[in-house]
Amino acid sequence: MISEKTSMKLSELRKQDKIAVLFVCLGNICRSPAAEGVFKEIIKDHHDEKRWVIDSAGTGGFHVGDLPDRRMRVHASRRGLTLDHICRKIKYSDFDDFDLIVAMDSSNEEDLKDIAPTAEAEEKIVMMSEFFTLATRFDYVPDPYYEGAEGFELVLDLLQDACATLYRELSV
Ligand code: 4NP
Repeated sequence: MISEKTSMKLSELRKQDKIAVLFVCLGNICRSPAAEGVFKEIIKDHHDEKRWVIDSAGTGGFHVGDLPDRRMRVHASRRGLTLDHICRKIKYSDFDDFDLIVAMDSSNEEDLKDIAPTAEAEEKIVMMSEFFTLATRFDYVPDPYYEGAEGFELVLDLLQDACATLYRELSV
């Protein structure tokens, strides 16, 4: 459910001509590049690409320079999504360059709060789960890295739901 605080933030962003959204997870090879791919597909379908800057990053740096995890790319491709993001670590300037920084789980959210350079920067952090509308047991996007196929499918189900909501909420 979208909090009052996030709702006010979205109302402000909706007035902007251009909106920059950064999706963040731990490794930037599973959840956040998938979120980036899902959101980019939505804006492409709506012929609305010019309004958006969409990217992803990780709080950890173990896979910098890599393509998304092969398993995530395979599951995404079955839904018509090509994930071609090159893994990178979050940097301070991201808090200037992006309007909204979307964390996949509470650990990502805590890490982001720790590195946010200013209070204003910290205000940009929201949880992806705020945009879930599916009936789900989850209030975060679970890390699929040590899971099997169902973990990856679950992530994609949650992300397709949440990204559709986020797009709708930010569209005029
Ligand atoms: P992600 O998944 O945060 O969704 O990209 C992970 C990928 C790699 C690792 C952990 C989580 N890792 O420990 O290497």
